Amino acid sequence: MFTYGAPALKYGRGACDEIGYDLTQYGAKRVLVITDPRVAATGWPHRIAEGIAGYGVHAEIFDGVHVEPTDISMRKAVDHARGTGPWDAFVAVGGGSTIDTAKAVNLLTSNDGDLMDYVNAPVGGGRAPSAPLKPLVAVPTTTGTGSESTTVCVLDVLSLRVKSGISHLKLRPALAVVDPRLMLSQPSGVTAASGMDILCHAAESYTAKPYTEFERKRPEQRVPYCGANPLADMFAERALSLLRDSLRAAVTDGDDVAAREDMALAATFAGLGFGNAGVHIPHANAYPIAGQVRDFHPDGYPAEEAMVPHGMAVSLTAPEAFRFTFDAAPRRHLRVAELLAPELDRPADDADYLPAALRKLMADIGIPNGIGGVGYSESDVDSLVEGTVKQQRLLATAPRQPSEEDLAEILRRSVSLW
Ligand SMILES: [Fe+2]
Repeated sequence: MFTYGAPALKYGRGACDEIGYDLTQYGAKRVLVITDPRVAATGWPHRIAEGIAGYGVHAEIFDGVHVEPTDISMRKAVDHARGTGPWDAFVAVGGGSTIDTAKAVNLLTSNDGDLMDYVNAPVGGGRAPSAPLKPLVAVPTTTGTGSESTTVCVLDVLSLRVKSGISHLKLRPALAVVDPRLMLSQPSGVTAASGMDILCHAAESYTAKPYTEFERKRPEQRVPYCGANPLADMFAERALSLLRDSLRAAVTDGDDVAAREDMALAATFAGLGFGNAGVHIPHANAYPIAGQVRDFHPDGYPAEEAMVPHGMAVSLTAPEAFRFTFDAAPRRHLRVAELLAPELDRPADDADYLPAALRKLMADIGIPNGIGGVGYSESDVDSLVEGTVKQQRLLATAPRQPSEEDLAEILRRSVSLW
């Protein structure tokens, strides 16, 4: 059995000027616009709030979202919303961090308890929300995360030094408003990292364990991700074609509006696919790669904090992860490589076609050369593996189950990729 769920979607220039109308359709009278300080400084959240007020809906702005949110930053947002509520709806204006924070706010203003009660087991309590959530309108300002389409929210649990998440069908936004105008100011480094996130969403969902191989469980026990399936495949293939045509151009020339619009569409398509099918080993590895960062400061991101952006963290082990999963679904891996890099001389070993296509693209758009490029060495592999095996929800979608030694081998081979 496979399932398909998605937010309602509005795409196009000017889409974010109509959110007030959309909110009246949900009967909302009082809404909280959630954003981060950098996005607030662009003026878009205020413009959106004014547009909402123009439809007679009371709108307030919370601009305290933390990029790469933590349990502490999410609690701060939740406390603000609980203290100023009740709210009829939420509007998230920002990247994945903001949309994920808004999901947590929506969950914890509609249901009681603490954030950690709902974080996936074994990190948190794995509790399911009992009360319905309010409509969440997601307005992405960075291409990539797909958070506007998914049922998950990701956070760093600071005391445990681990990235984990909350995952439930009720978290999915009611409406995604994709207005490419909001993405035009995205710095080149952010476009590159988020482009690799989009790519991995598409490639991982396309190569995920097929839905037919999942153990049949009662619906209330099923995870939100259902594995590769014909509908998600369609979205992934289209996303990969758009990336082939436009990722390099969008990174090189930020004024290439057509390439930017392609990237916004690719992000949306990939999100609609992986939001149902799921992702696997590269995303599982990305959690500890981002979570255990010591001193890496990427171009295009706030300079004050060490971080490995999500999309970059995902991509760094992708070539070697796909080499490991190749045997489980050779035709699917080859198809991804053909869609991404039809011009590439095909390596003698079929298993190296997709890794070669990824290495070339990553080098072209300025992604660091493996996990060594963001400060890790072989001596970090054991502690990274420890973080990856905590991501059982993601590893369960892998087409071939990696042992701890397999994960260590993937990470060791990813210290330097080229
Ligand atoms: Fe991702």
